[in-house]
Amino acid sequence: MSETMEALKKEAGKCADEIRKHKSVHVVSHIDADGLSSAGIICTALERGEFEYTTRFVKQLDEKALDTIADENHEIVVFTDLGSGMCELIKSRGIHAVISDHHQPQGNLQFHLNPHLFGANGSYELSGSGSTYILASAFGGNQDLSSLAIVGAVGDMQHLKMGQLVGINREILEEGVKGGTLQSKKDLTLFGKQTRPIYKLLQYSSDPYLPGLTGNEEACIEFLHSLNIRFSGDERWRRWIDLEIPEKQKIVSGLIQYCLKSGIPSYKIERLIGEVYVLLKEKEGTEMRDASEFSTLLNATARYDHAEIGLAVCMGNREEAYEDARKLLAEHRQNLVNGLIYVKEKGVIKLKNIQYFDAGSEIKETIVGIIAGMSSTIVENRNLPIIAFAKTDGGVKVSARGTHDLIRRGVNLSEAMSIVSAEVGGAGGGHDIAAGATIPENAKEEFALKLDLFIGEQLRRKTHST
Ligand code: C5P
Ligand code: C5P
Ligand code: ZN
Repeated sequence: MSETMEALKKEAGKCADEIRKHKSVHVVSHIDADGLSSAGIICTALERGEFEYTTRFVKQLDEKALDTIADENHEIVVFTDLGSGMCELIKSRGIHAVISDHHQPQGNLQFHLNPHLFGANGSYELSGSGSTYILASAFGGNQDLSSLAIVGAVGDMQHLKMGQLVGINREILEEGVKGGTLQSKKDLTLFGKQTRPIYKLLQYSSDPYLPGLTGNEEACIEFLHSLNIRFSGDERWRRWIDLEIPEKQKIVSGLIQYCLKSGIPSYKIERLIGEVYVLLKEKEGTEMRDASEFSTLLNATARYDHAEIGLAVCMGNREEAYEDARKLLAEHRQNLVNGLIYVKEKGVIKLKNIQYFDAGSEIKETIVGIIAGMSSTIVENRNLPIIAFAKTDGGVKVSARGTHDLIRRGVNLSEAMSIVSAEVGGAGGGHDIAAGATIPENAKEEFALKLDLFIGEQLRRKTHST
């Protein structure tokens, strides 16, 4: 076990002891896949420990949310996948809190589990659900919950930075592999291997972008025909998991040749194959079997005000809640497709160092970031960060998405969003590759211009330093 893991476990022990002093616990978590997985982990642990608990899911832990929580006078509040940036505000309201998070901490608090406090990087070495898994382990047992910890990490895309999970995430993965709940293997990285027809995997590939295939259903079907991949007996396309190994090899080598012919650089082609994570206790052909598909299923619930459904699925419901989640997933997919069509039709406004689109009320602010990320498949210039605006209560939500190439060239969207949003009277943050902010209603243009200059400066700084 690494020293960092030991230190985290020790801190988790203290947090668990504090929770044990109470009978009833209020859990507050984030409305994305990592937040739901975190809540699933802590609530399962609490249930097994025969605690009483209640839950609350928030888009953002702002002062208003904290006021409400404080007014409710809970014995103890466990914040998961959020809270680290709000230590002082939590204390000042007299909330008796345990925080289990992975965002950059601001201030300090007595019971605070966060990788940044122990020398690990919370943007790719441990997720909110990973941190919460360590907390759950401190209650004794709960090793089976490692699979949810990996779902959360993959939901936050922590495996992409190094092409596999690393750091504390990896130690958790190894615990899950030993316990027989998880498997990691090299496989095609494209989304949907458990549940989708094969051509859909190609059609929606954004990393790498497959010129001529991405976004073009007919071309994808034609490509598979040209490789002689057969339909199943009932003329329905088979899924990736239905293929024989030689067929999978045929597709992978066909894709690699296709990419080489299209002039895609080899480091991008390499991303077609990577480590993927299988939840061995889940049924084959279901979303929950694959960490990436599981995380999308969760996003389809909580981002539409139905966190309770995603939470139930995390806690093992494979009946009604799972059926409801699948319905929401179908709607989520449709919304993503509609969002992409909207961006395609409306186009993006290009500045020197960024490109942006304003979705107004056409795209829900809770998914505009996902669409910004996916729209790299349809914009002309994929070498500029994509910024999206959407209307939100009392202002404008901004989502920013970059690429690994941009990060290498010096772009840090978290820094940019945090500084530039503050300049126009807003607030923001996030990660180098994906960040967000809220700004005042009338500040969009000014924000875009300032951000353009700021990103330009980041690129110049890097050029001069190398
Ligand atoms: O709030 P939180 O940190 O959990 O959200 C991280 C966000 O960053 C997720 O929406 C995730 O999809 C996004 N991300 C991304 N590309 C990456 C890493 C993270 O779009 N390479
Ligand atoms: O909402 P979106 O998916 O674009 O968020 C990307 C990242 O930016 C997440 O890590 C989120 O926690 C962070 N963010 C933030 N402040 C905001 C909005 C988003 O730190 N106001
Ligand atoms: Zn997270």
